[in-house]
Amino acid sequence: MPISQRTQVGIVGAGPAGLVLSHLLQLEGIESLVIENRSRQYVEERVRAGVLEQGTVDLLTEMGVGQRMQREGLVHYGIELRFNGKGHRIDFKELTGGKGITIYSQHEVVKDLTNARLASGGQIFFEVENVSVHDFTSSNPKIHYRKDSQDYEMSCDFIAGCDGFHGICRPSIPEGILTTYERVYPFGWLGILAEAPPSSDELIYTYHERGFALLSMRTPHISRLYVQCDPDEDIALWPDEKIWQELETRLASDGWKLTKGPILQKGVTGMRSFVVEPMRYGRLFLAGDSAHIVPPTGAKGLNLAVADVRVLARAFKAFYATGRTELLNTYSEVCLRRVWKVQRFSWWMTSMLHRFPGENPFDHRRQLAELDYVTSSRAASQSLAENYVGLPMD
Ligand code: APR
Ligand code: PHB
Repeated sequence: MPISQRTQVGIVGAGPAGLVLSHLLQLEGIESLVIENRSRQYVEERVRAGVLEQGTVDLLTEMGVGQRMQREGLVHYGIELRFNGKGHRIDFKELTGGKGITIYSQHEVVKDLTNARLASGGQIFFEVENVSVHDFTSSNPKIHYRKDSQDYEMSCDFIAGCDGFHGICRPSIPEGILTTYERVYPFGWLGILAEAPPSSDELIYTYHERGFALLSMRTPHISRLYVQCDPDEDIALWPDEKIWQELETRLASDGWKLTKGPILQKGVTGMRSFVVEPMRYGRLFLAGDSAHIVPPTGAKGLNLAVADVRVLARAFKAFYATGRTELLNTYSEVCLRRVWKVQRFSWWMTSMLHRFPGENPFDHRRQLAELDYVTSSRAASQSLAENYVGLPMD
């Protein structure tokens, strides 16, 4: 027999979306339980992106989980776009009225949130198995799962599907309800984490004949670098020396030197734009990567997940305070307005900065003209800057 549990909001997934939601709900006096199929260590060490918009930083700070981020995060007020071997700075501070971004790894955000949840009595069940969601068109949806060889049935008022792109919540919605919008890019990113002081104070996005390259960082001692590669690139064919050589070639610029060091981790990621509509079915609400994926070029994945759950927490708050469902009913619509603008920006950055198989010399010239325009027109630079630091929250 399964053990019965009861909570107000059952949350599937302890990534940024699930953890931020759970913490926001607690601050409003709403109870939630989080289940996660991976171990705590795995979730806390999984290397992902690391660029936080100002709005994300402000929210984490208001939630009381921002102390370490304030201490260790690197605040940047611009990025460099490099092409034809020359760098061009986009000055966020000047173009957005003082805004910037903070470099702080997603897994550090996850650690801070997990610690805060557990310290304030929040419950996260790690390493659960056989997760399934049920009855979400009734007023009493349920989550089934197994932990330590024991079955559980969690009954709740609402389920938040925060279980990422490969989770079970989205596929549990019956056929015919969701519409999928998708674009898969014909390239991937080969990424490394290296024990090397970043060769630049700010991120460098490079367009090169041989393909895109990005210099990013995690700390003043750790660089994060990427090169465009085939989507099914075999990492075994990329010894460390070859990766450094490729980075050196693509990032080359007069008088600039790439700092190298031992490679701590390497991997290949595919690139995809993906949205489902609506982001809700009955009492099941999808948030973050379970509902949408952006290519990493705009550094938006985590920020978009946080923006969703902020809207969702506000809707739950209104429901529990007044019994009114207006904000729950508009959840999907409100989120999707932002989602599509961020999709547009991520697609645009991706299209501008990568070489596309099969492109012709016209396309190449057009991309260079676009980069020239973006870096020389104030209007165009400002458009990039306002999207990069984060569009205003609704
Ligand atoms: N049951 C429980 N947990 C699950 C299940 C399942 N069946 N399937 C997946 N999960 C967990 C994953 O292990 C992961 O910890 O759900 C969590 C989803 O977290 P993320 O993938 O980080 O997604 P999200 O919280 O929406 O955050 C979006 O993450 O993918 C990055 O770059 C993306 O920065 C973005 C951010
Ligand atoms: C990263 O640091 O991992 C990173 C930074 C910027 C991006 C994508 C990834 O656009």
